[in-house]
Amino acid sequence: MNEVTDRNDRTRKPRRPLLKKKRTWVLLTLAVLIGGLVYAMQPSPPLPCNGNGERMQAIVHHEYGQADVLRLENIEKCMPNEHQVLIKVRAASANPLDWHYMRGTPYLVRMENGYRKPLTERLGVDVAGVVEAVGSQVTQFKPGDEVFGVARGAFGEYARASEKRIVHKPAAVTFEQAAALPVAGSTALQGLRDGGRVKQGQRVLINGASGGVGTFMVQLAKSYGAHVTGVCSTRNVELVKSLGADHVIDYKKEDFTQADQRYDVIIDNVGNHTVGNLRRALTDEGTLVMIGGGGPDAGDWLGGMLLPLKAMFVQPFVDQDLGFFLSEARQDDLRSLAGMVEQGKLRVVVDRTYPLSELPEAIRYLESGRARGKVIIAVAAPQP
Ligand SMILES: NC(=O)c1ccc[n+]([C@@H]2O[C@H](COP(=O)([O-])OP(=O)(O)OC[C@H]3O[C@@H](n4cnc5c(N)ncnc54)[C@H](OP(=O)(O)O)[C@@H]3O)[C@@H](O)[C@H]2O)c1
Repeated sequence: MNEVTDRNDRTRKPRRPLLKKKRTWVLLTLAVLIGGLVYAMQPSPPLPCNGNGERMQAIVHHEYGQADVLRLENIEKCMPNEHQVLIKVRAASANPLDWHYMRGTPYLVRMENGYRKPLTERLGVDVAGVVEAVGSQVTQFKPGDEVFGVARGAFGEYARASEKRIVHKPAAVTFEQAAALPVAGSTALQGLRDGGRVKQGQRVLINGASGGVGTFMVQLAKSYGAHVTGVCSTRNVELVKSLGADHVIDYKKEDFTQADQRYDVIIDNVGNHTVGNLRRALTDEGTLVMIGGGGPDAGDWLGGMLLPLKAMFVQPFVDQDLGFFLSEARQDDLRSLAGMVEQGKLRVVVDRTYPLSELPEAIRYLESGRARGKVIIAVAAPQP
């Protein structure tokens, strides 16, 4: 018996290095693949500034980190390139996207903006203001036009935008309202229309109905003729009702994934339920649209992307449609959002307004995950 055990031991021993070797090869292959990917996706440097000696105030961050890396600095005022417009910023709005850029997390963000430190040090995306100058190839805008849209570096006195990513602002829409629309409004509109393909009469549930995206989404889903259920906390129930939701679930009292009601479309702005539980709340051929989720503590590597990744693996085996949705700045959508605000069909819910100098506070507030509607940054008109 002892002999057999001894023999077994002897036969087992040589296997260990083999296994180790295999693991080493797997790790090496992975490292080469990841290295190759990182090399292939070298972030592109920011456009040259083309300044003419003038200076301006803007928020910058020279490193990745929490809101205390943000500085209000006197920097060079850059002139637009041939396809750009220079905007005198009147208002901007803050989005979770801003703290993703500020922190450089999930690390995927760094593939675009530099691995060790940010290549583009300006922050802010949503902008509204007045055109100050246009590039030689710009055809749609002229100095003096009131515009809004997407401009990298919106948290500053001036920002440059591609002419394809801004539109004219209707006179009846304020700069603050317009600045609230680009990211959150486009995401709400496109998430319902292109992601959820929401139709009249469908039961639509919006998880995270009281935030920047959610407050627009509830109203737009109603305008599509859907039966809308909004999920929010106790203090926001009345707000979500006032936006037109047919039914509101207070997540502090009830978990919609454990109830009997099934939905044709679930839009998830929060990412706080498992794929399995979300599927339970969907009809057999229902659609799950994953918009976002994962606060600053969700993990540096994948953050809120973990849920969509899990859904991707489940998708081939189920009839339900499970998809992650990424919005984009489209001029026609920006125009129709502003048109709805102008006609009183879409309400912009503004939670707080901060001056540019208090941007770190605004970002901290947004990071807390408690914003009700939009957080606006008012930019005082620079003195001549
Ligand atoms: N995929 C895209 O293209 C895209 C575009 C824009 C945004 N996003 C992502 O979408 C998400 C939402 O963006 P946002 O601008 O709406 O963010 P936000 O304004 O910061 O959202 C804050 C809201 O979330 C609510 N909330 C927090 N925990 C909740 C929970 N457990 N259940 C229900 N509601 C909860 C809060 O309400 P209470 O205080 O009542 O809890 C608050 O009103 C973010 O993760 C963002 O990164 C994705």
